[in-house]
Amino acid sequence: MTQSPEKSVYISSEELARQREFCTLCRELLFERFGEEPKAFVHTYGCQGNVADSERIKGMLAEMGFTFCDTAEEADFVLFNTCAVREHAEARVFGNVGALKPIKESKNNNMIIALCGCMTQQEHVAEKLRRSYDYVNLVFGTFAVWRLPERMYDLLRRRKRVFDVNEETGRIAEGIPAVRDRTFRAWLPIMYGCNNFCTYCIVPYVRGRERSREPEKVIDEAKELIASGAKEITLLGQNVNSYGKTASFDTDFPALLREIDALAGDFIIRFMTSHPKDCSEELLLAMSECEKVERHLHLPFQSGSDRILKAMNRGYTAEKYRSLVKRARELMPDIALTSDVIVGFPGETREDFDATLSLIRDVGFTSLFTFIYSPRVGTPAAAMEDPVPAKVKGVWFRELLKAQEDIASVRCKNEIGRKYRVLVEDFDGGYLSGRTSGNTVIKIPAETGDSVGEFAEAVVTHAGNWTLEGRLVPLEDS
Ligand code: SAH
Ligand code: SF4
Ligand code: F3S
Repeated sequence: MTQSPEKSVYISSEELARQREFCTLCRELLFERFGEEPKAFVHTYGCQGNVADSERIKGMLAEMGFTFCDTAEEADFVLFNTCAVREHAEARVFGNVGALKPIKESKNNNMIIALCGCMTQQEHVAEKLRRSYDYVNLVFGTFAVWRLPERMYDLLRRRKRVFDVNEETGRIAEGIPAVRDRTFRAWLPIMYGCNNFCTYCIVPYVRGRERSREPEKVIDEAKELIASGAKEITLLGQNVNSYGKTASFDTDFPALLREIDALAGDFIIRFMTSHPKDCSEELLLAMSECEKVERHLHLPFQSGSDRILKAMNRGYTAEKYRSLVKRARELMPDIALTSDVIVGFPGETREDFDATLSLIRDVGFTSLFTFIYSPRVGTPAAAMEDPVPAKVKGVWFRELLKAQEDIASVRCKNEIGRKYRVLVEDFDGGYLSGRTSGNTVIKIPAETGDSVGEFAEAVVTHAGNWTLEGRLVPLEDS
């Protein structure tokens, strides 16, 4: 390696200080335009990576003087942070952007409408926004997030549309403050981008090459989160198992996990997503030995057919996947496995689909995120022959859902009588809710929501198909 990643990957502190100055300038212009306390509505689509981006975007907006509201109708600034992973996700965004037009018109065109995120990073989408959505004022791609203050300033000064979507590589911006909805659950990005180029997937094109945050930066943020009341920290990356691989430091993901586990405080750790091709013995050992890491592994297999896995460029076989599961269960008999699976990849046959069914039956996932293949512009799979009619794919999809429902309900029944320490996340309709160590939702009847944000001990009393019900038991001293 000839170039030091520190130099090329990080946005300089001078540049970030410049952006903070733009925040101050925007504050004045926003005041002129909207009066005191301009209101922003930020809506996030897609994965937790986007949620984490939105938290930093809100951090910048707060520095500009915005407060946040829950509907577009109340807002002076509306931002959609978009997802491009499937066509359905994109269609929904276009529909919701369309619905903003009458709201904006009734507000005398003063409202600012902005789009960012993965969709905007695709040329054809940016073009469509340019041509057909003239009431959208500001569009910025995933690589331009840190430059939002400057772009907002351009927009406010010139009162012309601003598009910042042409940058093709991503860098890391450290130190942007995050505004979080809930303090007790925190998303902590440890890396950005993806180098895997699974043939169906748009993510590497819209999120750029893999880049890992320095371990010290991640640890410092984890400490801050714990100090400010985080009880659950979820480490994020498209493929956390390759953390550090393209960086100049030596810390890999298992080592990072151990370091975070060793931090003082009463909190739990989760992480996602793990790619099977990089899921090492060391990771499974670290998981099994780290006290704060929950017993849940989200390990997307995508297909049970080796032929399809090869066409997807996934880099493992169904056999290798089964052996990983076996090893994980040897080390952690109580581990819950969840996964993503795609039905109807180009060229998939009934035989291939049967291999997927047989894999889910063999493994016994707690839950499964199932998707019908959706062609993405510019990906290799979009150019592959896809002879299977949508109707047939729909039949397979429903068959898969049914098979998984049967598996999940048996797994849920097996939970009856088990005791979990649960972080209480919500109180609604006389029930507290949280998740077991294995990430299954558990509802607990209660009189009040006083324990939201705290740990509670619960015994599972009833099982549904996907969720559990429990009752509170006194907390054991930990
Ligand atoms: N980095 C993660 C996945 C991120 S995308 C991983 O590799 O596991 C989340 C899920 O969306 C993927 O696991 C896949 O199952 C699904 N997905 C991605 N692209 C898709 C497409 N073009 N059509 C249908 N599903 C897709
Ligand atoms: Fe997409 Fe594959 Fe990267 Fe996951 S690992 S984000 S599926 S290219
Ligand atoms: Fe969607 Fe982008 Fe995440 S495409 S799944 S929001 S990385």
